[in-house]
Amino acid sequence: MTASGVSVFLGLDIGTSGVKAILVEGSGRVTASALTPLALSTPFPGWAEQDPETWWQATIASIRDVLAKHPDAVVSSIGISGQMHSSVFLDRTGEVIRPALLWCDGRTTQECQEITQSAGGESHLRDWVRNPALEGFTLPKVLWLRRHEPEAFTRLATVLLAKDFIRYRLTGAVSTEPSDASGTLMFDPATLRWSTDLLSAVNISRTLLPDVAPSMAVHGAVHAHAATLTGLREGTPVVGGGADNACGAAGVGVIAPGEAVASWGTSGTVLAPTSQPLVDPGLRAHTFCHVAPDTWYLMGVVLSAGGAFSWYREQCARELPEVEALRALDAEAAAIHPGADGVVFLPYLQGERTPHRDASARGALLGLSLAHTRAHMTRAVLEGVCFALNDSVSILRELGMSPRELLLTGGGAKSALIRQLQSEIFGVPVSTVDREEGPAYGAALMAAVGVGAFADLSEAAAQTLQRTPPSVPDSAAVAAYREPIARFRSAYHAAHVVQSQVQQRELL
Ligand code: XUL
Repeated sequence: MTASGVSVFLGLDIGTSGVKAILVEGSGRVTASALTPLALSTPFPGWAEQDPETWWQATIASIRDVLAKHPDAVVSSIGISGQMHSSVFLDRTGEVIRPALLWCDGRTTQECQEITQSAGGESHLRDWVRNPALEGFTLPKVLWLRRHEPEAFTRLATVLLAKDFIRYRLTGAVSTEPSDASGTLMFDPATLRWSTDLLSAVNISRTLLPDVAPSMAVHGAVHAHAATLTGLREGTPVVGGGADNACGAAGVGVIAPGEAVASWGTSGTVLAPTSQPLVDPGLRAHTFCHVAPDTWYLMGVVLSAGGAFSWYREQCARELPEVEALRALDAEAAAIHPGADGVVFLPYLQGERTPHRDASARGALLGLSLAHTRAHMTRAVLEGVCFALNDSVSILRELGMSPRELLLTGGGAKSALIRQLQSEIFGVPVSTVDREEGPAYGAALMAAVGVGAFADLSEAAAQTLQRTPPSVPDSAAVAAYREPIARFRSAYHAAHVVQSQVQQRELL
């Protein structure tokens, strides 16, 4: 409590489905929360765009809303988390040139091939940026703009990521930090520098990219105009913040090597911190910087996790309001046997990153008969997302990082059924934390560390979070999933053959 009010930290998350704002006290108590939904534009299959201006308007709305819910709050500092990789193209005056191509946009296969060729092969990419060229990353999007919208490209002065754009609008500072820079494919997570090798191989100027400062350093302060728009105090410090996956991990206390977290946002991820920038020899998992210094992580990404379930709910349960639909779908799925009596769902609605690296993959529901009901399909959709995440858990195991327990965050942490499915399908105990607020909470903790309220992120997490006792899966249930997991994996290969035939026919 200050003389003029209650001191809080503001955590923002610029997500794909909405912008979230939370106010967090030094004890970790969340005193207010606000969410402004966002729409996703998919003009063609595999494309995904959002206008950064809508992120900014939604940010203003969420900040105003959260401050109105806690009028005594005095915001000491701000941390921002955001969707990774999504390309904000700005002109010289700081105006947005065109809608951002998002992390789940798959249109840049040709540009990925161009990058790999210009680099002289994937082994150079591994040496320079520790990751392969994947459609979702930022560099292919810059090359797409150069090839397909040359006029827009000539106006391009700065490429920013979602949360860095919001910090720019709040403070005027143009910057990024290592956790988000590592997802651009232009930054070397090992040396913490932009890769001049790769930039010169693809002929992209370093001047398009912002300077990189530490994630928990103060990068700027709220300026007068943003203060008027949002209701924040002019001069409030804003830290670097981080990529949503890194902030989500920090928000459940997954900071040190040995821990792991599975998250269900629009995408789903399995993330394990490391003390070195370890690279998956198969390049199926990504190697990025964590938001804590001298820490990296390996991460497998399922492009449609919560996104696949939302799509399914909208298509198959749209007669019910969202909350009721979730409750009804959850209940009907719980009544079906493990393996959904043979129904298999592939959640690859926007292509897939891990393990397939296949932007052209598509979703499928297989194995239906007249005996099946919507309940089987619902169970299959939930299991399909868990099976896809389990492919990432398997990669971690293969690389010798066998998590003894997984923290759960996002939508999959909120439902008892989905927690149980994850624990049985991954074959490990799972737990959650008492303040399940996702990446916005990690961002708020970073804001607190940035102004000295805690010595570091581990201390902030230890002093503010409590984990639930791990829930250990029943060994018979784990065994019952062996066959459905094998069926899921072979279904991708079968669907891939059909999909390639469809695509070839479309090209003719
Ligand atoms: C990670 C990724 C997604 C987005 C979602 O590489 O692309 O998890 O960060 O916002």
